[in-house]
Amino acid sequence: MRQKLVIGNWKMHGNLASNAQLLTAFLQLAPAQTTVKRVVCAPPPYLLQCRKFLAESTWQWGAQDVSSHAVGAYTGEVSAAMLADVGCTYVLIGHSERRAYHAETDALIAQKVSQALDNGLIPVLCVGETLAQREAEQTNQVVAEQLGAVLQSLTLEQAQKLVVAYEPVWAIGTGRTASAEQAQAVHVHLRRQLVARDASLVDLPILYGGSVKASNAAELFTMPDVDGALVGGAALVAEEFLAICAARC
Ligand code: PGA
Repeated sequence: MRQKLVIGNWKMHGNLASNAQLLTAFLQLAPAQTTVKRVVCAPPPYLLQCRKFLAESTWQWGAQDVSSHAVGAYTGEVSAAMLADVGCTYVLIGHSERRAYHAETDALIAQKVSQALDNGLIPVLCVGETLAQREAEQTNQVVAEQLGAVLQSLTLEQAQKLVVAYEPVWAIGTGRTASAEQAQAVHVHLRRQLVARDASLVDLPILYGGSVKASNAAELFTMPDVDGALVGGAALVAEEFLAICAARC
């Protein structure tokens, strides 16, 4: 049985005061002991704030992006070593908003994953199809290419540390969730691809993301290949996020 993993992606939201409220609520309202791994991915200026609040808890924190470079004259970039230095455990890589608005390619994303792994971070590789691609029945092909580009650049030992997040672009921030069956079908496809690389990858966590809320999490989590969630909007509301963490876990 794979351990459930629920990651909140704050995107470009929050400030010191609102983050403090949210993190306090997490710590006060959530059960201290749980089998669910809970993570918040905050903007870089607030990672130390996450550390301050969460360091003594079982919660973990991470970033939403990382540089593809190790160190040097890359103004504005944040390296994987810096994220590790402030205690990040996870980093989202290849989120569809970065692929779309920052023209991130599979090759760049593979470099970022490798930077993360070199610095002991767990990369959460985001894959997913657009609505046009789904309607053209290209979903499996699109996600296979996105995953394949990264898998082929990794050693087996590196690949064993990956987390995959399936996030259909048409379901992100739209209120439109993939049905549990739609999510399961793509997760099975991704898991087969992992196993085709090596049988030991069978238990890599595959998260679903895209308008996950308290009201649909339980149904998604009944699917055998949905190992948790990557949560955007609902991660900014303590009761919603905690209900998702608690759903059938
Ligand atoms: P959403 O975002 O839950 O607001 O749809 C998910 C994500 O982008 O990771």
